[in-house]
Amino acid sequence: MILAAVLAAVAGLMFGLDIGVISGALGFIAKEFHADTFSQEWIVSSMMVGAAIGAVCAGQLSYRFGRKKALILSAFLFVLGALLCAMASTVTILVTARVLLGLAIGIASFVAPLYISEVADEQHRGGLISIYQLMITIGILLAFVSDAIFSYYAAWRWMLGVVAIPGAVFLVGSFFLPDSPRWLMLRGRDDEALKTLISLRPSRAEAESEIREIQGRLRQKQRGLSMFLENPNFRRSVVLGVGLQIVQQLTGINVVMYYAPRIFEVAGFGQDGQMWGTAIVGLVNMLATFIAIGFVDRWGRRPMLVAGFAIMACGMGALAVLLSMGGESSEITHYLAVAVLLLFITGFAFSAGPLIWILCAEVQPLEGRDFGMACSTFTNWIANMAVGASFLTLLGSLGAAHTFWLYAGLNAFFIIFTLVFVPETRGVSLEAIEQKLNGGAKLREIGR
Ligand code: BGC
Repeated sequence: MILAAVLAAVAGLMFGLDIGVISGALGFIAKEFHADTFSQEWIVSSMMVGAAIGAVCAGQLSYRFGRKKALILSAFLFVLGALLCAMASTVTILVTARVLLGLAIGIASFVAPLYISEVADEQHRGGLISIYQLMITIGILLAFVSDAIFSYYAAWRWMLGVVAIPGAVFLVGSFFLPDSPRWLMLRGRDDEALKTLISLRPSRAEAESEIREIQGRLRQKQRGLSMFLENPNFRRSVVLGVGLQIVQQLTGINVVMYYAPRIFEVAGFGQDGQMWGTAIVGLVNMLATFIAIGFVDRWGRRPMLVAGFAIMACGMGALAVLLSMGGESSEITHYLAVAVLLLFITGFAFSAGPLIWILCAEVQPLEGRDFGMACSTFTNWIANMAVGASFLTLLGSLGAAHTFWLYAGLNAFFIIFTLVFVPETRGVSLEAIEQKLNGGAKLREIGR
């Protein structure tokens, strides 16, 4: 079970590598192709467009062909996209290659948490999905470090192309994944499902009782859009998933991810300091994810989310205060700004980072899980794009301090959102969550 989950989580590594890699490469690309701002924006955002499309298609793909085949396809696209990026001779080819990479990310970011939630047992589910988020953060960190190294040689083609190597490892590894037992049963292949589940659980008895539980859930035959239109309880879980992903992006995480070098520049660091400072942001992001892996199945989802939002609100608020001091900034305030940035990253990495992906995989009923998660993953990418695109406008119209106050306020508001809407799903089986949802319980109460 752990091996299958970790192997599938390598999809997260690819996701992170591709998110992280472009910031360091963009300057060199712009120089070589004489790309204007518009082309540069397209080179960056074409991947998010692809990811949003990929997430939408992933629902159908993983329903029809299964989670495993969908992961194999995404791995293949990762390799192809990375090689095309490295060889691109025009901006158009580069943008096309980035759309392909986006498709891969869209499919992978949908299928991997879904697959892991379906092979994991309820005692380890949260921790195993956190490994997926850990892989994302490792990917971002590796991309920052590899960019920093290749930047000494201005080797942007290597920055983008080297991602094909882990992509190839993922491609080979994904052939060894077992099919998801829940998906096999969805397709009426019960014997295979039992065989697979026996290999994933400590005893045959446990596997058999889980199969019976899944069978119970599968009796109501409904799915996708028709289920969304007919079943008000399913509508609630879909809206919750969509809301959770909007919340994750509105924390402002990617503002920090994309603009960390600039914040280090403001803090008075030189070129090297900015690059390696950004790598430290990546490192803290990765290390703090271990807190989630270790504690999410012990402390529970709700307390960790509340704590994370509180820390992020404080971090953004403190950054706003430091920025509003403007001209009076001294060396100390510069270092404080860096400390506050790392505090914010820590708050995100042990809470909203992994937990939103966990919850989105947990709250959807089996028959509508593909549709529900396609909606929430699609939203993640659209919101990611919207936050990235609006940041500079916000800076221009509100000013830096007010922009960060806005994010502080949003994070504070998300504490209330969590308390009112988010269920505690720690240690509860997916089938029990579904039963409560369909029984009409309040969203907050569909867990424990
Ligand atoms: C988010 C990404 C973010 C990453 C940072 C993920 O959970 O979905 O948008 O860049 O965390 O670690």
